[in-house]
Amino acid sequence: MKAYRASLLYFSPDAEPNQAAVFEDDGLLVVGLNEQGLQVVQAVGSYPALQARFAQVPVTHWPGRIIAPGFVDMHSHYPQTNVIGSPADGLLPWLEHYTFPEEKRFLAPEYCAQAATFFIAELLRNGVTTALTFATSHPCSVAALFQAAQAQRLRLMTGLCLMDRHAPAELLNQKVPHASVDATEQSLMDSEALIQRWHGVDRLGYAITPRFAPTSSAAQLRGAGVLAAKYPQVWIQSHVAENQAEIAWARALFPASRSYLATYADFGLLRQRAIYAHCIHFDDEDRALMRDTGAAAAVCPTSNLFLGSGFFDYAGADRVGFKYGLASDVGGGTSFSPFHTMLAAYTVGREGQSKTGLSLSPQHLWWQHTAGAAQALGLAGVVGNLQPGCEADFVLLNPRATPLLARKTALANSLDELLFSMIVLGDDRLIERTVISQAV
Ligand code: GUN
Ligand code: ZN
Repeated sequence: MKAYRASLLYFSPDAEPNQAAVFEDDGLLVVGLNEQGLQVVQAVGSYPALQARFAQVPVTHWPGRIIAPGFVDMHSHYPQTNVIGSPADGLLPWLEHYTFPEEKRFLAPEYCAQAATFFIAELLRNGVTTALTFATSHPCSVAALFQAAQAQRLRLMTGLCLMDRHAPAELLNQKVPHASVDATEQSLMDSEALIQRWHGVDRLGYAITPRFAPTSSAAQLRGAGVLAAKYPQVWIQSHVAENQAEIAWARALFPASRSYLATYADFGLLRQRAIYAHCIHFDDEDRALMRDTGAAAAVCPTSNLFLGSGFFDYAGADRVGFKYGLASDVGGGTSFSPFHTMLAAYTVGREGQSKTGLSLSPQHLWWQHTAGAAQALGLAGVVGNLQPGCEADFVLLNPRATPLLARKTALANSLDELLFSMIVLGDDRLIERTVISQAV
């Protein structure tokens, strides 16, 4: 066992609402091994209360620092690191002019490997310890990212991007020369082989990944739904209702479905562990479909602001009651930093809800990027929090990391004021270290 003494920030699973944060000014985090030999939290609480019980355990003391759960990023694209900050007239031109040309380069395994290594390092530098992310339509891009994540022991889910139409030829899933199966069937066989190779290995998970309805045939979506039913523990990731032009395109291609979101339901692609990026332009029937199927939204505020896609409707999501959490959406999103994403979510909450004047609390913003995101991913009690049993992934925050942070956090009179200072002024400099659960 090991123990860490510092201030502590976490979420009580018993609190109502569970978005309420707990702060221990002088706290102790005790870490030990579970039956699988993985480091998990044994105890968390105030140092004076726990000190006697763990007197034999060696303690690392970090005065003036805050231990908080590692951040959970529910949606990004590892092949789009180089695409960050590429301006375009909205989603579809951005895909065509910047994103697809970059993704073509992932044909080469060496290109995949260097991009994967950089991406994982950038997540860790920014305090992200769990990520669900897209690869490209090249199987080597999936293997490269799993290998890079495994080397750092990151909890990471990814999968082969399924696209069998309406994209450049080099990015469509490929047929094997001389094989009897077509490219669509091959993409599903490749996905299943990758599930068997990687899902559940160390801390890795597979995600069935139809890019979005417009770039898949009905046969490919149907096959993805069959795989999703066969492997219920595997994740599903896709995009929905991000942009008006995209929605019109999806509706024209699948007119029999009630809505764009319903298209995915019609192919068996809405269930627990199905994570849909954006979910902006929904009606209440869509929201109820999310709730009733257990699917979750990955809210991507920096991306939505950058591409001018619109504003996630927090009030609507809470009124109907479906799950959501935060995501960077690199490279439509503009930052790897969870602080930038939380600040953008605050802006989106205000702008999008001007009718109701919604002002998301800093505790709710932080929850959306940790325990809330974990819950939306079906990983509550596993990551995203520091309750006993959680895998011991955490960040060490230095609230005096910059002169302005030091000045501002010293003035905080409440937990909300402290958290807001870090959300508004924070970036990778606030993350003094990222600690990942180790295995023996
Ligand atoms: N919809 C389909 N593909 C993408 C993508 O790469 N980024 C975003 N933001 N939306 C998409
Ligand atoms: Zn995306």
